[in-house]
Amino acid sequence: MRVSSVAALLLPVWLLLATAVDLASAVRPNDFKKCGDSSFCRRIRRLSTYAEMHGPKFSSPYSINALPSFDQSKPSLKAQVSSALYPGVDFELEVRFHNDGTARVRMDQVGKRHGDWKRYDEAEKWGIDKQPELFKQEHFSYKSDTSRSTVNFGPEGINTFILEHNPIKATFLREGLPQIVLNGRGLLHMEHFRPKPDPFPSPKSESDGDAPSLVFQNKKRSLQEAGHAASAADAWAGFEEEDRGEWEETFAGRQDSKPKGPEALSLDIEFPGKANIFGLPEHASPLNLRSTRGQKDGDFHEPYRLMNTDVFEYDADSPMSLYGSVPVVHAVQPGSAASVLWLSGSETWIDVDRVPGPSGNETARTHFFSESGILDLFVFLEPTPDKNMALFSTLVGKTPLPAYFALGYHQCRWNYLSTDDVLTVNGRFSDEDIPMDVIWLDIEYAKNHWYGVWNDETFPKPERMLEGLDAEGRKLVIIIDPHLARNDDYFLYKEARTKDVFVKMPDDKSDYEGWCWSGSASWLDGFHPDLQNWWNSLYSLASKKLKANARNMHFWLDMNEPAIFNGPEITAPKDVKHHGNWEHRDIHNIYSVTYHAASTLAAKLRESPNQRPFTLARGWWLGSWKHGAIWTGDNLGTWEHLAVCIPMMLANNIGGMSFCGCDVGGFFGNPSPEMLVRWYQAGIFEPFFRAHAHIDTKRREPYLLDEPLRSAVRDLIKLRYKMLPTWYTAFKEASSTGLPVLRPQYLVNPHDANGFAVDDQYYIGDSGLLVKPAVQKDATKVDIYLGEDRPFFNYFTHEIYRGSASGKRVSVPAPMTSQVPMLQRGGSIVTIRERVRRSAELGWRDPFTLYIALDSQAHGGVRAKGRLYLDDGQTYADEEGDYVWKEFEWREDSSASDGSATIVSKDVEGSSSAGTNVSASSRGNKDAFRKSITDVRVERVVVLGLDKPPRSIKTREGPVDFTWKKGSSASGKAGGKASVLVIKDPKVKIVEDWTIHFE
Ligand code: GLC
Repeated sequence: MRVSSVAALLLPVWLLLATAVDLASAVRPNDFKKCGDSSFCRRIRRLSTYAEMHGPKFSSPYSINALPSFDQSKPSLKAQVSSALYPGVDFELEVRFHNDGTARVRMDQVGKRHGDWKRYDEAEKWGIDKQPELFKQEHFSYKSDTSRSTVNFGPEGINTFILEHNPIKATFLREGLPQIVLNGRGLLHMEHFRPKPDPFPSPKSESDGDAPSLVFQNKKRSLQEAGHAASAADAWAGFEEEDRGEWEETFAGRQDSKPKGPEALSLDIEFPGKANIFGLPEHASPLNLRSTRGQKDGDFHEPYRLMNTDVFEYDADSPMSLYGSVPVVHAVQPGSAASVLWLSGSETWIDVDRVPGPSGNETARTHFFSESGILDLFVFLEPTPDKNMALFSTLVGKTPLPAYFALGYHQCRWNYLSTDDVLTVNGRFSDEDIPMDVIWLDIEYAKNHWYGVWNDETFPKPERMLEGLDAEGRKLVIIIDPHLARNDDYFLYKEARTKDVFVKMPDDKSDYEGWCWSGSASWLDGFHPDLQNWWNSLYSLASKKLKANARNMHFWLDMNEPAIFNGPEITAPKDVKHHGNWEHRDIHNIYSVTYHAASTLAAKLRESPNQRPFTLARGWWLGSWKHGAIWTGDNLGTWEHLAVCIPMMLANNIGGMSFCGCDVGGFFGNPSPEMLVRWYQAGIFEPFFRAHAHIDTKRREPYLLDEPLRSAVRDLIKLRYKMLPTWYTAFKEASSTGLPVLRPQYLVNPHDANGFAVDDQYYIGDSGLLVKPAVQKDATKVDIYLGEDRPFFNYFTHEIYRGSASGKRVSVPAPMTSQVPMLQRGGSIVTIRERVRRSAELGWRDPFTLYIALDSQAHGGVRAKGRLYLDDGQTYADEEGDYVWKEFEWREDSSASDGSATIVSKDVEGSSSAGTNVSASSRGNKDAFRKSITDVRVERVVVLGLDKPPRSIKTREGPVDFTWKKGSSASGKAGGKASVLVIKDPKVKIVEDWTIHFE
């Protein structure tokens, strides 16, 4: 978000005044809270500082005084918890144990609560996709005495849970070794509901001197009576001193009325013996999370913040919150792993530090604190990070298979200004032979920024425009933000008023009003049960409410954090109300998902049978990936932003959000031609590949570049299209295994601690392709880290490099052409389509090429393997089994010295498509897609690194021709170019099972 001169023509003056910024400046840090600006963050962080100061004498006031109960049928453990701080207040702790070895820990205030208020406990409704099955009884054991309770659970009972009662401390162990410790530092705290002090104590002033207040003295006394050391009692009593911010808080002139007072939640979570922790997207910062207590050079000084905000021109190295929030942490050490999901939708901060741990390893410690809501967390105890990732994805939902076109190239700008403009851009792409799938319309298509209402002066015949695009297999995306202009002439606003589906003022009586692109606006309340049906009626093709709506029109759901120009921190006030009587503070981060979910479902249902919808949102939280893609918001056209895009995408991927990308070119600024080419080199390897630019920037469509850069970018985009089968297969794998589409080094080679800091390169799914875009000015080469003792092949030049199990860096050329640094791991088979058409879907019957990169030796008789997934890319027929999912293997008998080998193609065994379990062989007559491509060929097979040319190559049909280029062998020493064997037309069909035999 940012307006400037050109936008001035398009926006009312008040809006300019509210939002105009100096074009030269970067993020405005004063718009956003630092921890010290937020009452709950300040209080709770201070607590951890006290704890640090008092060392082992600091203790948790929380304890369990009666034996916990254990319900064998669930199984779960329940305990009544009390705090020496407030003996009359009751809490209940529940721990559930699941079949898959995960566990869930919940705690809430129970019994009589002041005002009968309730902490928000519905985050699971939005964040959990599938509740894990409760643990099968035969494998657990449970025992409890006054000091501790112990439970064995998980497959074969290898996991143990130990709950110490006084003070409370919980440890999760795998095979007897502690993996996760909760409240080891005693920072557990749940602020209970209480009456507002009357009269409200005035804040301490200088003249009060150091005299402790009465509140302090009383608290201290009761803590000491409960057996706490004087210093710990001091710390807690100090913490409990009244702080005006608990009941009312003002930031940057905006007030939060806090009617329910303090409600924060705090817990320390540590990972003994694991120094490396990853996750907590979205931040522009390194993948391996930094310490945040500022103790060492390079540490951050602020905690990581999770609070969806519209932070345009954000810093490229900061723990500041951005547009999305996923409170998951994956801890890893060679041979060991564990993950934690903190299920909260309210503003959350996380401190990280490291201390000496067991076996000479460091221990990463985290301290989570949220503004409101119950304590609800899941622990994952598998020994490798990929298994924990898969369990996490099963719990929170996997990325569904997107529409095929959505993986093509998206051309966006704020704004293509008219029908002619759109059709001209479209025509230029065709004339210049640059493939492209989607043209995007930003807010200026909409009259007065009334989303869904075309500006009929500039877009007089939108239907014609859509038809024109459709003729070339292309799509249009239009933007529909969740704020609607408050004007009774605007049909959507009027209908929403009638339906009463807007976010409400704190008194719950009138609609909340704020400022955004549309001027004075109200915000759709995604929590309102009546929103969905009404929203469906807008998207329905039959209803014709949305003029020009067509199958090739899709939707951009921007500003859904929500972004509110005159709101605190450019978002909604915490005290406004949502359906269910929840305050915005309780659900702030969840709000983004609700609008994304409602719009995507409406788009899916707009015709029958349903087509796969495509939506892009900016704000996101747990599970947003089930609804569509996101992008990393308003970045800058700078080298730093180009570089930070990669760790950001990797963090998003391991946080669950595979379908993401960064504005190619950078949203703000005018990148140099060199930088633009580098952006495209990186962009073709982003799952969501879209160029976008601010309204004030110069036009920079790829055809405007001078030669030879124009051809370089054309070839880059073509490379993306050639690789679409690989991308689509990677999404298919992600949708079934839950592993991300982009895989960072630590996830692929968790045995190699040397690679844990590597976050500027990644693998594309299971394909074996490893990319490292050049992101520095004047780069001519990049260093790629190889964490495996195998050959790796330069995809373009066929140079062989050899990695090492403890990591090795190799130098790979990074020219300003389409030959980006991309290596194919020995042992993989990649399928591509050499032919490129104007748009993705047009190539659906084009033939395939297999690239086989041999490993140095066979493993179990297999020296290379890979997969290819295909379906119609549009409908849900795949769920009925109408797809093609093939597995290719290069098999050889290691004892055979004659060099004989066979390439085998077969259906992926037991393959299942999302939501069903239909194996490829048992599908019924719903085979339309598969049948439609029965004659599609494999037109070429390329084999890299074979020792010597075969005497002959045969298929069932007889001998086939091949060419052989001498070169290095995969099993020999690295260095030099690999031998290349090419079979021109092996006469095999992609849908069939076949073999190609080498002798
Ligand atoms: C926001 C979006 C940006 C868009 C602009 C106008 O700043 O992040 O992509 O162009 O709004 O809609």
